[in-house]
Amino acid sequence: MSKNKKVKIIDGKFTAQAIKEEIKKEVAAMIDNDADAPHLAAILVGDDPASQTYVASKEKAALLVGITSSVYKFQSDTAEEEILQTIQYLNNDPEIDGFIVQLPLPEHIDVDKVLNTIDPSKDVDGFHPVNVGRMTLGLPAFISATPAGILELLERYKIDTVGKHCVVLGRSNIVGSPMSILMAKKANPGNSTVTICHSRTEDIEKYIRSADILICAIGQPQFVKADMVKEGAVVIDVGIHRIPADNEKGYRIVGDVDFEEVSKKASHITPVPGGVGPMTIAMLLKNTLLAAKKEYYK
Ligand code: GUN
Repeated sequence: MSKNKKVKIIDGKFTAQAIKEEIKKEVAAMIDNDADAPHLAAILVGDDPASQTYVASKEKAALLVGITSSVYKFQSDTAEEEILQTIQYLNNDPEIDGFIVQLPLPEHIDVDKVLNTIDPSKDVDGFHPVNVGRMTLGLPAFISATPAGILELLERYKIDTVGKHCVVLGRSNIVGSPMSILMAKKANPGNSTVTICHSRTEDIEKYIRSADILICAIGQPQFVKADMVKEGAVVIDVGIHRIPADNEKGYRIVGDVDFEEVSKKASHITPVPGGVGPMTIAMLLKNTLLAAKKEYYK
């Protein structure tokens, strides 16, 4: 039986749609003022089906808000040099406002070299060290889409983060690490006391249990159970996993959190799917709009 009837579902699908409507209006206003539509390009290397799906979803979402897009596709054995040259070409093309290099890349390509070659002013994924450094210093920067999406959700759902204990599970460059920095910043959302947990943390459950705000990006399906969570915690689930299920598809999508259990104890929770996931594309489009408006790099 549900103990906590008042859990609020943080609806990422709805929020992402609202953000995309805002972007669409801004793009329409730009075009009315005789500016070009923002343009987002993607570099896709190899034939990883998940990467192909991601890039196709980004293109489709861009089109729906009036952002034009292009994809530069390469075979998986393409030389690193050719990818670096394509990045230089996109850096120098004034018609490209922002671009991404879809990850993961084939093993023979040095991902750090690739990310370092992107012009920070066009780095709408926010992966370039200059953007990571600027974010850390609180300077205007492209913030990578997942952390930016989580901040938007916390803000739009009016979650009080000030002085709260925020526990981040996972220390990846894309989610855990930037999230921990952002939550500790003198900003709103922010001003939290942050603990970052990872695979080498001893007694991880002790930290999870003390979290007022729990951000889960640990990469293990349904790892967080109700008995690990404080009553009334805000739970943000970044995980996306397929697990076997007795349905037509043979699988279902779950997060890092056991939603069924934890939703009975949390005050707020993001579902999977429909929570953080849809926010990432919306935030990439928002970054592309900001790149076109040259707000961060004049
Ligand atoms: N692969 C998985 N997520 C992402 C992302 O946000 N950006 C890029 N470029 N590649 C990814």
